Amino acid sequence: MCGIVAAVISSGDIRAEVLAGLKTLEYRGYDSAGMAVLHQGEISVRRKMGKIANLEAELDRNELPPSGLVIAHTRWATHGAPADRNAHPHRDDKERIVVVHNGIIENFLELRQRLADAGHEFSTETDTEVLANLIASHRNTGLELHAAVRAALKEVHGAYGLVVMSADDPEQLIVARMDSPLVIGLGDHGNYAASDMPALLHLTRDFLILENGESAMLRADSMEVLSAAGKPIQPKTLHCDWTPEQAERGGYPHFMLKEIHEQPDVLARTAFDRCVDKDGDVDFEEEFGLTDAELAGFERLRFMAMGTSLHAAMLGQKFLAELARLPGETLNASEFLYSAPLEEGNALTVVVSQSGETADSLRAMREVQRRGGRVLGICNVQGSTLAREADHLILTHCGPEIGVASTKAFFGQVTALYLLAIRLGRARGVLNANQGREYLHDLRNLRHHFEALFRQESLDEIKQAADFLTGVRSCLFLGRGLQHPVALEGALKLKEISYLHAEGYPAGEMKHGPIALIDEHFPVIALSVKDRTYEKMLSNLEEVRARGGKVIAIANQGDERVAATADYVISVPEVPELLSPLVTVVPLQLLSYEVALGLGRDIDQPRNLAKSVTVE
Ligand code: AGP
Repeated sequence: MCGIVAAVISSGDIRAEVLAGLKTLEYRGYDSAGMAVLHQGEISVRRKMGKIANLEAELDRNELPPSGLVIAHTRWATHGAPADRNAHPHRDDKERIVVVHNGIIENFLELRQRLADAGHEFSTETDTEVLANLIASHRNTGLELHAAVRAALKEVHGAYGLVVMSADDPEQLIVARMDSPLVIGLGDHGNYAASDMPALLHLTRDFLILENGESAMLRADSMEVLSAAGKPIQPKTLHCDWTPEQAERGGYPHFMLKEIHEQPDVLARTAFDRCVDKDGDVDFEEEFGLTDAELAGFERLRFMAMGTSLHAAMLGQKFLAELARLPGETLNASEFLYSAPLEEGNALTVVVSQSGETADSLRAMREVQRRGGRVLGICNVQGSTLAREADHLILTHCGPEIGVASTKAFFGQVTALYLLAIRLGRARGVLNANQGREYLHDLRNLRHHFEALFRQESLDEIKQAADFLTGVRSCLFLGRGLQHPVALEGALKLKEISYLHAEGYPAGEMKHGPIALIDEHFPVIALSVKDRTYEKMLSNLEEVRARGGKVIAIANQGDERVAATADYVISVPEVPELLSPLVTVVPLQLLSYEVALGLGRDIDQPRNLAKSVTVE
């Protein structure tokens, strides 16, 4: 939540590059944006409520002077409503220190009172302005800037990723982090900082990742990194395998549409480019670090995640039961924290997260580790907190996901979970080598079915159903078995980007309550492919129709029985049952995209949402 970009270069002007980086981060928050530069010993700031385009317009009207020392921010409001005055960067009252900050300073009211008593004046409602004044108060005691920032942070409770610039220290930036991501980019002519790697890919692909409590002083040609204890350290560098092009729209009108269309490639990137050995067996990359003997020793698996990743995790649990005959449970990570602290026993916890920075999922991971359990992270972002702190790791390699509504990340997660279930099945002797290869063969074959999903006839079917949905206010997504998590995901996608009310239910639950809602204005989107739940789903469709409800069915190509019952049919190819969620989810993603488009919604940046939720 919120995005930071900052740069210090040896000579010249870096404003345009920082602004370009900020635009790639707009998905992290888009209530307001701002930029500050240092020029001839003075700090100048521009801030604007709304999207970065508003800031750009402001910068056109009221240009900032050229500078090689620049910080910028895009905001998702926590303290203080979205407004020009509450936008970052924030200055101290003497305008010598300026700060951009992600996270929440929990004791800001107490600090504010103390600073106000000492004569500091405040003009905003934000915790970040308090931070700027706190740093200034330490700098004024004669401490060097880096030491002043560290002294201020010692007094702070809460989460932060921040960058500090000072008018009295013209060639340096100070960066620090605690529970909010911050990366340092290493360039040939300067150094950079950002909350996410995509913001700096046009400047560098080499990064240092700060850990909690660490801070750094960045100059154009050098840097000093201090550990949480204040000792100089040399953090490991990371070369990012994402390219700058991957973080661009590539001719698509929206990132979401581009990312939906990238899913066939995700299959190769997640599975076959990295995770399959020469004998055709699943063999994860080095970071996985679990031997077959260790895998065979686990008595159960626990999956935890939030949002879309939670739906992927639910499928992971089902794959595990089918392919490895191992019991599992799937928990909402935020709820886990309030459950009774039972013995971990011989369990492996799988935490699934696209960003690897979701606060609820990270807290759950740390709680499991505190209780002595082991965590396997399934994550898309190299160097993220989950990727670094999990005991074991599978990277999904989907490339940067920019659209706030997650699509290809779900696809990569489900693929990785399918591979994990095969590996576990092999390790536990449930699957022999040939069976393992057959399941992998099914996955590889899926690629050929994608053409059908993106054919014009299918897109036309989706558009017709979408046109109908733009006229309703509420709807129900139903699925059974493997299609239940897909129903939940379809409903989440639709509400996120179209703002229509939608609920996902296991279809068997319909008669236990939701059926009361059904009438001609309350449609049902039913996942009714030919799997073990097919006949039961057909009965559900009849029940909906008998009550005047309209049915949009996701069905296998040429299924006459479904066609006879449904008002709209969206066809999908017939694939092996375990893999059908990877096929049925695609038209649901496209359906919500088309509904949102029809309703004129802001698809990549839906209201109130942010791409990664780094506060609980
Ligand atoms: C999905 O479309 C969402 N925007 C959201 O539910 C997301 O999946 C959730 O916040 C979890 O994020 P993560 O995968 O980065 O942990």
